[in-house]
Amino acid sequence: MGKVVADILLNEQEIKSMVKRVAAEIKRDYEGKKPVLVGVLRGSVVFLADLIRELDFELTIDFISVSSYSGTKSTGVVRIIKDTEQDLSGKHIILVEDIVDTGLTLSYLRALFMDRMPASLAVCSAFDKPDCRTVDVPVEYIGQAIPDKFVVGYGLDYKQEYRNLPYLAILGDDGKEDNNE
Ligand code: IMP
Ligand code: MG
Repeated sequence: MGKVVADILLNEQEIKSMVKRVAAEIKRDYEGKKPVLVGVLRGSVVFLADLIRELDFELTIDFISVSSYSGTKSTGVVRIIKDTEQDLSGKHIILVEDIVDTGLTLSYLRALFMDRMPASLAVCSAFDKPDCRTVDVPVEYIGQAIPDKFVVGYGLDYKQEYRNLPYLAILGDDGKEDNNE
């Protein structure tokens, strides 16, 4: 089946106010602490870009890229493709994610960054699918909880596409058979 945008879950305005709300929470907790916001590539880039422009205090950004654990889903083993570049010891780290699903990636990342002796570690995710969790992992800042549906847009992809949609949409089948071209 081909894929189409079946339903808009959150429109641009709704996402905008979600970002403002999360930014206000982060500002309240981190102003003056010069946090490092670490974006998890690639899904978090749109959210990170919007979020930091709502944070009017000193901060830095960095990025990490990890492989998907497809094939090893049960183990939660994640491979680092690109690591962060700053020395993170003694820093206040905020990991920025696009979405938390099973929680496996995040629990791996939390352990990884805790080993780097930060002053503190917190996670901020644009979206959350709480019904899909298989491991219990704390997420300190959540933009919006959503139902157990596959979503795209606002940075999230299906086979690397749809990341540029300015809204969050549910992806559905178009009813046509794929013709293996
Ligand atoms: P987890 O380890 O199962 O929590 O997986 C989290 C990662 O899977 C996210 O950072 C996304 O990259 C991807 N993911 C999970 N759910 C979705 C979705 O509905 N749409 C697109 N990507 C998703
Ligand atoms: Mg991701």
